[in-house]
Amino acid sequence: MRIGVLASGRGSNLQALIDAWQEGKFEAEFVAVGSDYAEAQALKRAEKTKIPYRAFPKQDYSSRWEQEQAILAWLKGSQIELLVLAGFMRVLSAEFLKTLNCPVLNIHPSLLPSFPGLHAQRQAIEYGVKVSGCTVHFVDEGLDSGPIILQEAVPVEPGDTEETLSERILKVEHKLYPEAVRLITTGQVSIRR
Ligand code: GRF
Repeated sequence: MRIGVLASGRGSNLQALIDAWQEGKFEAEFVAVGSDYAEAQALKRAEKTKIPYRAFPKQDYSSRWEQEQAILAWLKGSQIELLVLAGFMRVLSAEFLKTLNCPVLNIHPSLLPSFPGLHAQRQAIEYGVKVSGCTVHFVDEGLDSGPIILQEAVPVEPGDTEETLSERILKVEHKLYPEAVRLITTGQVSIRR
């Protein structure tokens, strides 16, 4: 299965996927890593692993729509069969998803549908929940919505800060995302279209 990845930042989830793939946890080919930030560490990780990568910085485009079209054209040209969002900080339009026409995955650092959007870990602490976690789901045109594939709970400890909780959740993300990709590449999970 030809996998494309979009990431805006440090790319630790991308790295976890690359590591799991190199360890033979799933069979696939990473064929494209794109970012909306030229400086994203995720691109450096792609370069190091010799995965084709490209930045689509917003200043190169006259509108968000044009930027999205450029990303779309590049992913289509790479003939991806699965798109994995790994810390990609933008919501993809319905048109993008329709034209791309392949399953799209996202990972979110809360137990959805609780705490969608930015700063999910901070939202969990501010609410005072005792359990949070992370969710891998298929992407639809909503914000952190779409059918759930895997979830794992993570305790919120007394005295947790946004940073300590994020770190505890991130460790679980790095395990859950490769497992979700394995389920998809082996055909054990799919989405009806
Ligand atoms: C992760 O917490 C992920 O759940 C969220 O964005 C963060 C990305 O981290 N969607 P990284 O870039 O993979 O290190």
